[in-house]
Amino acid sequence: MNTITDILATMDYGTAPEDSAIVRDWLKKHETGFGHFVDGAFTAPGELFEVRAPASGELLASVTQGSEDDVDTAVRAARAAQPGWASLSGHERAKYLYAIARHVQQHARFLAVLESLDNGKPIRESRDADVPLVARHFYHHAGWAEIMEDELPGTAPHGVCGQIIPWNFPLLMLAWKVAPALAAGNTVVLKPAEYTPLTALAFAEIAAEVGLPKGVLNIVTGDGRTGAAIVAHEGLDKIAFTGSTEVGRRIRRETAGTGKSLTLELGGKSPFVVFADADLDAAVEGVVDAIWFNAGQVCCAGARVLVAESVAKRFEDLLEKRMRQLRVGDPLDKNTDMGAIVHPMQLERIKGLIEKGVSEGAELVQGTAPEGCFFPPTIAMKVEPASTLATEEIFGPVATVTTFRTPEDAVALANNTRYGLAASIWSENVNLCLDIAAQVKAGVVWINCTNVFDAGAGFGGYRESGFGREGGREGMMAYLAHPKPKARKPEAAPSAPVGQPGEALPGAGARIDRTAKFYIGGKQARPDSGYSYAVSGPNGPVGLAGLGNRKDIRNAVEAAHKAKGWGKATGHNRAQVLYYLAENLSARAGEFAERLTSFGASKTAAQAEVETAIRRTFWYAAQADKFDGAVHQTKSAHVTLAMHEPLGVMGIACPTAQPLLGFVSLVLPAIAMGNAVIALPSQTHPLAATDLYQVFDTSDLPGGVVNIVAGERDALAKTLAEHDDVAGIWYFGTKDGGRMIEKASAGNLKQSWVEDGAARDWLSKDGQGRGFLHRATQIKNIWVPYGE
Ligand code: NAI
Repeated sequence: MNTITDILATMDYGTAPEDSAIVRDWLKKHETGFGHFVDGAFTAPGELFEVRAPASGELLASVTQGSEDDVDTAVRAARAAQPGWASLSGHERAKYLYAIARHVQQHARFLAVLESLDNGKPIRESRDADVPLVARHFYHHAGWAEIMEDELPGTAPHGVCGQIIPWNFPLLMLAWKVAPALAAGNTVVLKPAEYTPLTALAFAEIAAEVGLPKGVLNIVTGDGRTGAAIVAHEGLDKIAFTGSTEVGRRIRRETAGTGKSLTLELGGKSPFVVFADADLDAAVEGVVDAIWFNAGQVCCAGARVLVAESVAKRFEDLLEKRMRQLRVGDPLDKNTDMGAIVHPMQLERIKGLIEKGVSEGAELVQGTAPEGCFFPPTIAMKVEPASTLATEEIFGPVATVTTFRTPEDAVALANNTRYGLAASIWSENVNLCLDIAAQVKAGVVWINCTNVFDAGAGFGGYRESGFGREGGREGMMAYLAHPKPKARKPEAAPSAPVGQPGEALPGAGARIDRTAKFYIGGKQARPDSGYSYAVSGPNGPVGLAGLGNRKDIRNAVEAAHKAKGWGKATGHNRAQVLYYLAENLSARAGEFAERLTSFGASKTAAQAEVETAIRRTFWYAAQADKFDGAVHQTKSAHVTLAMHEPLGVMGIACPTAQPLLGFVSLVLPAIAMGNAVIALPSQTHPLAATDLYQVFDTSDLPGGVVNIVAGERDALAKTLAEHDDVAGIWYFGTKDGGRMIEKASAGNLKQSWVEDGAARDWLSKDGQGRGFLHRATQIKNIWVPYGE
């Protein structure tokens, strides 16, 4: 036994194991195996798979592998329950969510112990972070259910949601998905990860305990095959997925064209930037939370530590010293800092990546870890920016350390990743922090803090970290739909333009315009192909448009990237340009109306189209400095700034009908929010848009902000959808075209917006609104702590 003098000599802690008796009793009760939770009750166990405690390898439970039939039964139960659940008043739904929150608190210790056993995370984390945040999410969303009608008017639930979650925060991810879905009036079929299904099953019991109406929550267990059956099920209206980027990409492709709403919260490789004037001791504690919290099995883990060269040596020494104090071991010991890796397969994956990193020249500094499914806290030095350890998501307790000289270098290194989930920035100079926060491409930025979460702020990524937000108002919006535009005749596929060499219609004489050129980088540009196609009116051809190809699109994307200063201009500056544009458009209203009548529009219709286009331009000019973000109430002594940022470079494929108004209605909101655009005008009547370049030229619109390439819409749109330097794509064409775009956009997981083929009436209120501005922006949440 340790004497007091022994203890004082080492200053080490003894063990302090958490009692797991209540969980063991519960597991014993279920030792014959768990079925699924469907329609308010547990089904009989089916084909079973084992769930083991990663820290000890002991068998905890046997759980059913969900089949396609099981998924189908669950979806049917959810479908049957959905209208009744949605028709409850917000207040009634809120009461259930409050009850769940309270019961989670009552069972907090049980849930924390179960989570730690099943996942291997330290009890300190499950007790102090995961479970309290679960309760917080249900309380917060009970509030949204209560006030939804007033705060989010005109919205409606999607219907039935399929939700697939990972193993790193099993119960918390369930809460992030279930709470907003139920608050909004959806019902759900949720699949927990195969490594960690137990807290979801315990949660099902809680749902039954509070009397949640049957069918509102359904839990189907199983592995990726069960997940795939959920994704493929035709009876679902929305899929929400958190997990690997690889599976997320597959889900994007598989849901393409199905009309299912989709949100993806995927991987990351987040930077942790330490400037020379940072409080280095605090920053070292930050790294502990960033990469050793949950053994680095965190999508937003600060895995790439970037430190100013002038303090790098001191910082590395402090970090190494601190790392060596971390206690790795029994998750149920209250003194454990880092528990087990979730599964031997994950451990193998981490080891494999580390071996590869070492073979590429990385040098490791490591702490210690017990035998078994554990990995020591690790710092990897001498890691080249393009190497495996710097680019691959390791999902383990491994931080790379790289130095930088200037803030510009820091930003370049921080953004040198295909992901964009989170970033943490450390400096005592708040001006510098906010400047860097604005430049880092990430959905969440923590200043002088890290891994801070709250139900009141959105969480989610940029780029290949996925799209959609969880938490806060924007998280609620992900579970709500605006009513579809009033259905009109679906857009018919326009016949492929017939290209001809040259720039004038043979034999047409001076009556016919010469070929309208493209508009790229603020200049008129000839089509690379040298081909044109005829634009027809009721009595034959009325002009020629250039026939664009991949090369024209590539040039336009390059020009758009050069115009990125537009996104940094103030809303006021952008508004001024847009007002000017509206003025110049009105000065030429007659010409534009004539152009539309030449395509066959009646005089009245042409005038209405031009007038609406002018009014719409004024409307978006007015919005340019008003569609702003929010300051969220999250944790005490923090301001959480939800900033609207442009997506960046966007592709926009316009509808064929109402060629001027369709173009204006889509391009204007995008540029009002600071995006640079490559627009594909109406394939049949592109001249209504190509005429706009003179208006752009006289309105001080910087070159490259709007680029126009005419031609075969679907071929050009596909090139845009596949382009890795395009961040978002809007496609207003046929249903088949929409499916093609969603599929093609999976490469870099760009945000896409397609109509299901029901063409809008751009003259009506369906043609304008804040919805367009939401689609043109993404939200960055910046956490700024204050106080000493
Ligand atoms: P995963 O993406 O395969 O698993 C996440 C969830 O998706 C699980 O519930 C799984 O059963 C399900 N799933 C798997 N295949 C599916 C499919 N075809 N269709 C529908 N659902 C499917 O992740 P995995 O294999 O567990 O981990 C591999 C790597 O992914 C990790 O090392 C880590 O880098 C990353 N990852 C990232 C997470 C994040 O939060 N961003 C969470 C989990 C893993």
